[in-house]
Amino acid sequence: MFNIGVIGTGYVGLVTAACLADLGNKVICVDNDYKKIENLKKNIIPIYEPGLAELLKKNRLAKRISFGHSIKEATTKSEIIFICVGTPANADGGADLSAVEKVAFEIAQAIKGYKVIVGKSTVPALTGERIKQAIEIKTQGRVNFDVVSNPEFLREGQAIHDTMHPDRIVIGVESKHAEDIMCRLYKPLKSQIVVTNIQTAEIIKHACNSFLSTKISFINAIAHICEKLGADVEMVAQAMGLDKRIAKDFLNAGIGFGGYCFPKDLDAFIHLAEKHGYNFELLKSVRKINEEQKRFFIKKIEETLWNIKNKNIGVLGLSFKPNTDDIRNSIAMEIIRTLKSAGAKIKAYDPQAMAKAKAEIRGIQFCKDSYAAAKNSDCLLIMTEWAEFKKLDLAKIKKLLAQPVIIDGRNMFEPAAMKKLGFVYKCVGRC
Ligand code: UDX
Repeated sequence: MFNIGVIGTGYVGLVTAACLADLGNKVICVDNDYKKIENLKKNIIPIYEPGLAELLKKNRLAKRISFGHSIKEATTKSEIIFICVGTPANADGGADLSAVEKVAFEIAQAIKGYKVIVGKSTVPALTGERIKQAIEIKTQGRVNFDVVSNPEFLREGQAIHDTMHPDRIVIGVESKHAEDIMCRLYKPLKSQIVVTNIQTAEIIKHACNSFLSTKISFINAIAHICEKLGADVEMVAQAMGLDKRIAKDFLNAGIGFGGYCFPKDLDAFIHLAEKHGYNFELLKSVRKINEEQKRFFIKKIEETLWNIKNKNIGVLGLSFKPNTDDIRNSIAMEIIRTLKSAGAKIKAYDPQAMAKAKAEIRGIQFCKDSYAAAKNSDCLLIMTEWAEFKKLDLAKIKKLLAQPVIIDGRNMFEPAAMKKLGFVYKCVGRC
């Protein structure tokens, strides 16, 4: 059992804290957002992540997790300190590491005795080195510490599962002592642990997210060729995925990838490569295909509806993916903005993301369910593949629509079946 400090209570920090507490460690979480911490003390969780509220409550009752405001307190009370603060993109695509630096300085001022300082947030390679330098400058060699890179591989919506059942754990270390501590910490997970140096661990994270983004852009490019040749991208993806070397995940054609991670990590990796003299053309193409995907989908809507101005458009799905309320870099939100500026009247519904969407966009109607979004609409767009959309009463939807048009950005339905039901059904790469 370790005493652990977690600095930053976003998706990564809160999930990491809850899971490490559930493994039997004593965890103190701090954040510079005073209100967020006060809410967390009252079991008010700022994000929707399946299972997180219950896990936090269970561990708070067991007194294994607490919330505070002071990095000094968290550092003093802990042997291991996780840095889980945001690394948003700069205008030039590089990662803004100012929060990481600020936290490193505050930790440095509080260190007494040996500490392991763990970079958990996704950061460009060599950030761990910078954290080490920052602490050394502040402490002038007076303290004994190690910096570790331990990148997260959690997917929003499955974050607890991914943390408790990782495919592998990656540890970037510079000392056997830090390695032993981190291996002891993660021993209960019985997962394979990849031990390497700090910069390699940082690259592994960027490489994984960039490769997953590449798979998505690859299948979206194939989808365009399928549409031109009358082929079926879903069948192509299915047959490709049966090859164990390719594997089936992240080959779902659609309106492209969004979210807080992929776009930002892609930009940061391209920027990092360029800063060190390598022009990462492949990833620039991955990014370009993803940008084009949105434009192709808008074009599909225009081809189907003719004029967008004054058309009533129902939208199902606002979050960037299902099982999350996160709308950061949500393609659905971007497409809604484009349609709205073209004069469309939007009626939107999402199972979880309505509150966050209402705070971000004005001038659209938010509906209580899918049927209300379909009522009197000239078409219904499916933008996020929430499971409940698959169970819609399509006969009822057809009656509610002003005209039977569904444009499906996530290939949730079968074209032949939809045509049989009398819909004009457009999708990605198969219709
Ligand atoms: C991602 C990585 O998967 C995770 O390992 C990392 O730690 C954080 O970033 P996340 O951003 O939560 O996780 O979402 P993910 O499930 O990876 O999806 C990212 C985007 O790709 C979503 O917009 C999703 O709709 C899209 N996507 C995903 C596709 O378009 N097709 C697919 O086949 C899979």
